[in-house]
Amino acid sequence: MHKFLIALVLLISFSFKSKHQPTCDEMKLFEKASFPVGAAINTDKLKNDEKYGKIVLSQFNSITPEKIMKAQYIHPKKEYFYFTETDHLIAFCKQNKIRLHGHTLVWHKALPVWLENFKGDKNEWEALLKDHIKTIISHCKGYIKSWDVVNEAFNDDGSLRNNIWLKNIGESYIEKAFLFAAEADPTAKFFYNDFSLESNGKKLNAVLAYITNLKSKGIKIDGIGMQMHVSPDYPYLSDINQAAMAMQEAGLLVHYSELDITLSGRHYFFASRSKMLNMQKDRIKSIVEGYMKLNPENRFGITMWGVTDNDSWLTEGNFRARPLLFDLSYKIKPAYCGFIEALENK
Ligand code: XIL
Repeated sequence: MHKFLIALVLLISFSFKSKHQPTCDEMKLFEKASFPVGAAINTDKLKNDEKYGKIVLSQFNSITPEKIMKAQYIHPKKEYFYFTETDHLIAFCKQNKIRLHGHTLVWHKALPVWLENFKGDKNEWEALLKDHIKTIISHCKGYIKSWDVVNEAFNDDGSLRNNIWLKNIGESYIEKAFLFAAEADPTAKFFYNDFSLESNGKKLNAVLAYITNLKSKGIKIDGIGMQMHVSPDYPYLSDINQAAMAMQEAGLLVHYSELDITLSGRHYFFASRSKMLNMQKDRIKSIVEGYMKLNPENRFGITMWGVTDNDSWLTEGNFRARPLLFDLSYKIKPAYCGFIEALENK
């Protein structure tokens, strides 16, 4: 009886696997692509998890650190910057000829306690902002040549987020941030990064108008990161493509900077797994196809926000999300094949 049960379980799991195991050429994504293909990296996993490291090396030629360059980690005390982890990652990227994209200098989240409690007038806050940005960029500028300078500064209604920087410095913190960045490394590419730009026209227009105005004042801003935390049926593909085209028309580089496609929507609750995985595949295929319609010189790249479904920030909150290209056992998913097919133009 016992043996019979084991055989049954094996049979079911085998048929599940073969039914669900996608087939496509497990080519290196970045070799097929005419633009950099990246992933957000968890540096602990990169050091300790061999299978994770293998995927990173074989598939991606661009890396965004998921956590270690955020203020909380890299600037834990006012007078102290912690660069050890960043230096490890720089060395890894250098050795393997992988682009490293700096993320993120000015944000309202992942702030160190000292900064949240900092008391000072506008000038002191500005000095702090300057020190933060210039110290980090100067330390990394031998290798890091692109940065998310300001992250998520807008509300959904297109107004400016009333974050710690706006409260203490005023609206000029945004242009100051880009100015300080350019002072530290005039040769790097600087990005404004935000979510919902692909789904919220009001926010997109506000951001584009704001950035265009700063550029016309001579502030160096090179591109926009569309985070692209999307789902299989939201937003419309046409909205995504139009947003990207609008950025291109404004003379900006376009980075799909944090792409993931969550399967956790409540209305998918009763849908079969294989159906969901195929929807995810079709979705990523069409997103990549749309991206490839941009001019090559405007394509900064597509970065997945994580490597496997184990290490996605969305899985932390909901195990049904499964938003990435590799599954819980590090195998390629249909979405991976969707990405490849788009690159192969099939
Ligand atoms: C997320 C990380 O993935 C999580 O691990 C962390 O706990 C919180 O931040 N927008 C961004 C990213 O710009 O930095 C965020 O990353 C996800 C939303």
